[in-house]
Amino acid sequence: MSKITIKTILEKKSKNEKITALTAYDYSFSSILDEAGIDIILVGDSLGMVVLGHSTTLPVTMEDMIRHTRAVSKGASKALLVADMPFLSYQTSESEGIKNAGILLQNGAEAVKLEGGRSIAQLVKKLTACGIPVMGHLGLTPQSIHAFGGYKVQGKTEKSAEILLEEAQLLQEAGCFSIVLECVPKNLAEQLTKSLDIPTIGIGAGIKCDGQILVLYDCLGLTPEFNPRFAKKFADLREISLKAVSQYIQEVKSSSFPDDAHSF
Ligand code: KIV
Repeated sequence: MSKITIKTILEKKSKNEKITALTAYDYSFSSILDEAGIDIILVGDSLGMVVLGHSTTLPVTMEDMIRHTRAVSKGASKALLVADMPFLSYQTSESEGIKNAGILLQNGAEAVKLEGGRSIAQLVKKLTACGIPVMGHLGLTPQSIHAFGGYKVQGKTEKSAEILLEEAQLLQEAGCFSIVLECVPKNLAEQLTKSLDIPTIGIGAGIKCDGQILVLYDCLGLTPEFNPRFAKKFADLREISLKAVSQYIQEVKSSSFPDDAHSF
């Protein structure tokens, strides 16, 4: 497989080929995703929850994003590497947003993802004018969790669906190369997907999006306490890990590890 670029992602929409995306936060998993042939690796600010143990993504800092983007970039040679801009790294001013996006690119990202619609459209224009590709993120945007009052499906009323359709157009006009749609009813996601020339990447947004993304730890079954309907577990790594670690403990305690085969 050759290197995935922004152009490849846009072409996939016109060829009606599904786009595959997953998050990663470290070198080891990013090299697995890359070898498996994933199109996009997102260094998501979900790392605040699944790696750092916070209850929301709000405490994630630029320092966190830089460290993890650098690590993921070491394992991703073919996939397109997108890094999330963390809370307060782009909301305070356009110049801060441009500087922080540039820093993520200097540390291995090939594009950045920002949450929001109308409120970020001007910044998206400036970023793309600077040569920084931008992925949008609409619907349930976790950095606004307190404004939403919880992790809820968005766009359920006619008015809120209309706003989503308008904001998606604004992001496309501003220069986004794709938009993540999170927790949006599947019929609205289909309407959004048909209304745009750029691809939509869904998470909890149904089958009609141009691509799909999941948080890797949900996909691999490492987050047992998080069970929303859309987060299908493709493996149960928590169970496998528990078994392996328990066996290790038992073998050390019974002096059967290390045996001769594992000793010098
Ligand atoms: O941070 C993240 O993992 C994300 C995905 C859920 C799209 O933004």
